[in-house]
Amino acid sequence: MNALRVGLVGATGAVGETLLRVLEERRVPLAHLAAFGSRDREAAVRYRGAMLDVRATTGEALADRDVVFFAGGESLGEAFFTDLAARGIYCIDNNPTFRLRDEMPLIVPEINAAALEAQHRILPVGNCTAILLSLALAPIRDTAGLREVVVSTYQAASGAGRAGLEELDNGQRALALGDREEPAVVFPAQLARNVVPQIGGFDADGWSGEERKVAAETKKMLGLPNLEAIATCVRVPVRTAHAEAIVVRTERPTTVALLQAAFERAPGIHFHAEGIVTPRDVEGSDEVHVARLRAEGNDGTRFALWCTGDQLRKGAATNAVQILELLIARGYLR
Ligand SMILES: NC(=O)c1ccc[n+]([C@@H]2O[C@H](COP(=O)([O-])OP(=O)(O)OC[C@H]3O[C@@H](n4cnc5c(N)ncnc54)[C@H](OP(=O)(O)O)[C@@H]3O)[C@@H](O)[C@H]2O)c1
Repeated sequence: MNALRVGLVGATGAVGETLLRVLEERRVPLAHLAAFGSRDREAAVRYRGAMLDVRATTGEALADRDVVFFAGGESLGEAFFTDLAARGIYCIDNNPTFRLRDEMPLIVPEINAAALEAQHRILPVGNCTAILLSLALAPIRDTAGLREVVVSTYQAASGAGRAGLEELDNGQRALALGDREEPAVVFPAQLARNVVPQIGGFDADGWSGEERKVAAETKKMLGLPNLEAIATCVRVPVRTAHAEAIVVRTERPTTVALLQAAFERAPGIHFHAEGIVTPRDVEGSDEVHVARLRAEGNDGTRFALWCTGDQLRKGAATNAVQILELLIARGYLR
């Protein structure tokens, strides 16, 4: 493999910063990393002990890269990505734009690495909540088939990026000090001392954008287009890591013991046979933590479980870096 030249668009954001840390930790063999954002800034991000300049994102500035991670810049537009792809540059893209295109795979390496093919250049990274959900559902699918999933989510403020975290922090500080709280801007209602049952805009049928993404992308990642999937997505005043309360109906009868064994074998899963696990416990972890697995009724097809995972890592940055590692392992990067 030639010396690998990588770009990171959105290096100053919540996902971009996590990408820098994950690239360092996993010792991905990069020859050069260049950081990009909406504008030029000197010495703005840290990577491998050095401060890197951040440059404004243009097609020209990215032209000498072999691979570009996108963690921001949804306004760049589709043509921006297709132009880079036409030049042979791999675009590993956290934006939602391409995720549901039939011709593009939605790779979660533990689940569907086989979907990656040599000709793919635009590689979308799925919605963070959907990635965590798909990992938690894959062992159930493989054990007894999956007919239906109903999920209620408890999503952290950092899911809305740096601005979301700041709004939560400012609201909590104002409440603690008895100061006047600023009106909500990032979230549809103030998040401090609250939960907010809306993530994204509502469509004509009353579903939020996040609920639609979670349902559609989970089906695609699991390769189950006929899965009945219903999501209710809720923002909670947690800094990092999403949690999900999941109810499933399987195709065939199974048992808690068989599902437990499947979870214990599954890559990317940390199964907790006893007790609970909370978002604070899993900050910085690359695994999806599954707990409280239980059966409902006697026919062996209805189960409930809880999962939580760091959405900035496995839900975004780690999954993106794993896709790069897959490209390297397959020998696609020359
Ligand atoms: N947060 C999560 O948990 C999460 C999970 C999965 C996927 N995602 C997706 O990942 C992306 C980044 O999210 P985030 O939470 O990290 O957001 P964020 O904290 O708001 O950061 C946004 C980043 O995008 C950059 N940016 C904005 N406009 C740009 C433009 N026109 N050209 C180039 N760069 C631009 C910003 O750079 P400046 O500092 O220069 O403005 C900043 O680095 C989004 O597409 C989001 O949907 C987020």
